[in-house]
Amino acid sequence: MAFGGDYNPEQWPSAVWADDVTLMREAGVTLVSVGIFSWAHLEPRPGEYEFGWLDRVLDLLGEAGVDVDLATATASPPPWLARLYPETLPVDRDGRTLWPGSRQAYCPSSPVFRARAAALTEQLAARYAGHPALALWHVGNEYGCHTTCCWCDTSAAAFRGWLEQRYRDVDALNEAWGTSFWSQRYGDFSEVLPPRATPTFGNPGQELDFRRFSSDEHLACFVAERDVLRRVSPHVPVTTNFMAHTEVVDYWTWAREVDVVSNDHYLLAHQPDNHLELAFCADVTRGLAGGQPWLLMEHSTSAVNWQPRNVAKRPGETIRNSLQHVARGSQGALFFQWRQSRAGAEKYHSALVPHAGADSRLWREVVDLGVTLERLAPVLASTVQADVALVFDWQSWWATEQVATPSVDVTYRDRALALHRALLRAGLTVDVVPTPSSPDELATYPLVLAPTLHLVSQPAADAFRAYVEGGGSLLVTYFSGIADERDHVHLGGYPGAFRDVLGVRVEEFCPLLSGEQVGLVDTDGSGAGTADVWAEDLHLAGAEAVLTYADGPVPGTPAVTRHRLGNGLGWYVATRTDDASTAALLHRVCSEAGVTAPYDVPAGVELVRRAGDEATYVFVLNHSPEPVTVPVPGVDLLGDGVSEQEVRLSGGGVAVIRQDRSG
Ligand code: GAL
Repeated sequence: MAFGGDYNPEQWPSAVWADDVTLMREAGVTLVSVGIFSWAHLEPRPGEYEFGWLDRVLDLLGEAGVDVDLATATASPPPWLARLYPETLPVDRDGRTLWPGSRQAYCPSSPVFRARAAALTEQLAARYAGHPALALWHVGNEYGCHTTCCWCDTSAAAFRGWLEQRYRDVDALNEAWGTSFWSQRYGDFSEVLPPRATPTFGNPGQELDFRRFSSDEHLACFVAERDVLRRVSPHVPVTTNFMAHTEVVDYWTWAREVDVVSNDHYLLAHQPDNHLELAFCADVTRGLAGGQPWLLMEHSTSAVNWQPRNVAKRPGETIRNSLQHVARGSQGALFFQWRQSRAGAEKYHSALVPHAGADSRLWREVVDLGVTLERLAPVLASTVQADVALVFDWQSWWATEQVATPSVDVTYRDRALALHRALLRAGLTVDVVPTPSSPDELATYPLVLAPTLHLVSQPAADAFRAYVEGGGSLLVTYFSGIADERDHVHLGGYPGAFRDVLGVRVEEFCPLLSGEQVGLVDTDGSGAGTADVWAEDLHLAGAEAVLTYADGPVPGTPAVTRHRLGNGLGWYVATRTDDASTAALLHRVCSEAGVTAPYDVPAGVELVRRAGDEATYVFVLNHSPEPVTVPVPGVDLLGDGVSEQEVRLSGGGVAVIRQDRSG
């Protein structure tokens, strides 16, 4: 199991490095990411490289048996790049230049930036390809994190080139963007700009294509460096750390380009039960890895520094968080960062070695985590067993959260998280999948969820339909299937792309006011919880009503429907049901689809299975403060080796139960 984190030795006098390595050994650290923000140290002046310090660091780590995930160091250019080439600086939507002084101050379309980054990568690859400590290449860092898009003139020219490739002639672009509206019609590609600040709402098609373009530009930066590394050191895998919880780039297109999918995840302290969001992001990451193992590149041992109030993790929490990621497919747990900085903007961000030093509760927990991960080595050769699929789509995310939509309260991840947590609480595991282009991609799942899948092309609609006709169950939530891939509305009633699968026809959206709630009733008239945010003037067209609005803008109208089509079922949830109603509905949907949880899971407990050739490993994580007993038989890898019929966990406790195939 990989255990370690970002190691930034350039922030410390070299005398500290020996202590670092001693402590790494004490904690059982196996992998560190070196040099992510070291460009200014490695190339202090243009074309003058200083590798001596990095040679010594890699040798020290190698001698200590710590593997290195070596960065290409291009995540943050040194100040000289901006001084010599000010055109490499990014520009925001309002035309303001973003200056050096923090990080990631570069335009991803800048040929100068790309050339300089490739030159440094070439040097690093040539020098370290054969170093015994080198295990993995780490290109850039969190592409798009701060400079998600750049609106400068260089980007504008690149955007026009990208559009010419995509549309060939300007009339095709006019058609795709619907430019007959508001006199936006272009006579020539040279008139097109990125979606800069405008007097009022910009063109949604332009905005959507600009997001696609920006994702592709960052990806081109990654690919250029990756190709250098693959040429010079074909034996060393290449990664870049994703942020699967963000909308910055289209990670489905990125996932195809990396050798190892790795991800960063940080809890939001103000969110109640934030382990649920962690679980979802881990599942998204596993989806990006095609169900195969992946690597948690960064999380925090305790507080971060970038939230308004940076809450410290409580004892046991960092181990529990780490094991959640491992349960869901990570091959270890890495952190930002090894040693807490003394200076700089992240000096209040926790680390494995805190300001207090090794005589601290936090360090002792870090050492414990090292031991824990070592015991979980057998889990490496296993993959997560899921019960249900959930379709996740970055382009729908962008389209859903554009300006001038029916309600600002409709956010992309909201329903995905709600469905995911209801299933997690029911003891079920979700695979996250892309929008299908053929029904075969869904065929292994008895139940598929499509939350807020706003953009659905005709081929995707056909794939969903064939999946249901062939016996699958599909559950769709509101604001799905509304528009095609160009963000043009499917006409004839909502949700156009899903109308026939769901057997409904919606004449009008009826969003609710902030704080407004509607009651829901069952077919027998009994109360069935509440909903908020959204309602629709829905008409049955083959489906039956499951729940109906008791009040609100469309009383008596179906809010949840069920439609038999061919051998399968199409369920539609036309409102934002509360958590209890969502859970009750999913209970019914799952049982009709034949999806059952392998174990009864008490409240607050998360249970995930990873299966290998010889054994299944059941991760049982108690997020509640109360002790619990869960009827999972087997041997706890973290316990005393005795086989038991059930797991008893203290509040916050974790067990990983091995169940041998033979037994
Ligand atoms: C990540 C980043 C790290 C560090 C961390 C702090 O986004 O990759 O370099 O800044 O956040 O939480």
